[in-house]
Amino acid sequence: MALQLGDEAPNFTAETTEGTVHFHEWLGTGWGVLFSHPKDFTPVCTTELGRVAALKPEFGKRNVKVIGLSVDPLGSHKEWSKDILDVTGQAPNFPLIADGDKKVANLYGMIHPNANDTMTVRSVFVIGPDKKIKLTLTYPASTGRNFDELLRVIDSLQLTATHKVATPSDWKQGGDVIIVPSLGDDDAKKLFPNGWKTVKPYLRVVPQPK
Ligand code: BEZ
Repeated sequence: MALQLGDEAPNFTAETTEGTVHFHEWLGTGWGVLFSHPKDFTPVCTTELGRVAALKPEFGKRNVKVIGLSVDPLGSHKEWSKDILDVTGQAPNFPLIADGDKKVANLYGMIHPNANDTMTVRSVFVIGPDKKIKLTLTYPASTGRNFDELLRVIDSLQLTATHKVATPSDWKQGGDVIIVPSLGDDDAKKLFPNGWKTVKPYLRVVPQPK
């Protein structure tokens, strides 16, 4: 069965452009993003890897480590990194797994045979400090991902992991949030002593907690 939210992210050991990675050990106590690329030296992937490299400080601020995967060998990844620098102005500054035997791709269900039986789709797994999967995304090879959206989702995941709130449609850092429906008004008064706006009895809006 495909990996689902709340499942433990499978552990693995893999060769990467930054040496051997024992995944759980490498994640440490912070958050992680594992994302796959259909193939080295392909145009969309080239733009994606440069973009993620440029966003490294943003992932760092959120205590998120990023690791990429492509089912090509290490030598190919290293050559491709030069192109990525050339095209985007940023060489990958995070490990890229050389998954030639598709061990990790298969472990995470990144190959969807009805889409393509050799290349991975564009998968994203966001993993929490408890090593559980908090978010999955699957894009086809022909559509590059929006990494600003990934950062936005991580902001929501981190906020809602520590406060009894949920984030509304199109929420962005600093925007109003929603008190979770499971929290009754009496308990909500303790957590949100300044009150809230009741749009509907089940839709109670408060400023984003600090
Ligand atoms: C790309 O990264 O550009 C790509 C890879 C596989 C299929 C289509 C596009």
